[in-house]
Amino acid sequence: MYAVEMRKITKRFGSFTANDQIDFLVKKGEIHCLLGENGAGKTTLMNVLFGLYKADEGELKINGKEIKKHSARNAFQCGLGMVHQHFMLVDALTVWENVVIGNEPGKFSINKKEAIKKVQELSDKYHFDLNAEAKVADLSIGMKQRVEILKTLYRGAEILILDEPTAY
Ligand SMILES: Nc1ncnc2c1ncn2[C@@H]1O[C@H](COP(=O)(O)OP(=O)(O)O)[C@@H](O)[C@H]1O
Ligand SMILES: [Mg+2]
Repeated sequence: MYAVEMRKITKRFGSFTANDQIDFLVKKGEIHCLLGENGAGKTTLMNVLFGLYKADEGELKINGKEIKKHSARNAFQCGLGMVHQHFMLVDALTVWENVVIGNEPGKFSINKKEAIKKVQELSDKYHFDLNAEAKVADLSIGMKQRVEILKTLYRGAEILILDEPTAY
């Protein structure tokens, strides 16, 4: 069984075809890298996978389950996490705040001590070498990237999409 199974994905923007019948298959534990010149359609395909764009044709299965109505909300439920090329972090806040905030729907109070501990443990588990209480503004680009990845892992993502992970 494939973790990600995209078959004959076609995505058009008006009369322009950005993805033309693309097959993309990923098994659990695999790391794939999409290479292509600027405008080749890499981000478009990943946006289709993450439910940000709707494919005009083709089919998508996550962990063997066919996804008919895809959306970013649904993507989280399927265990997908996406780190976009441009960071979506609040510089004035700490690492743990960036990771936790926006992740606790309907919750108006957060146990600070617990949250810090949880974020720190997750960071340590993956050897991210982050201090949960550091201010994001003080971090290097590479460290910010790790915070973005931590955000997806904190939400329980098991399939990570990293768009231009080495760009800055
Ligand atoms: N929202 C959009 N509307 C119109 N055209 C788009 C849109 N997104 C991407 N494109 C076009 O689709 C092509 C592929 O873009 P993209 O997937 O961003 O390429 P890559 O990530 O490989 O550089 C480009 O020609 C781009 O201009
Ligand atoms: Mg791109």
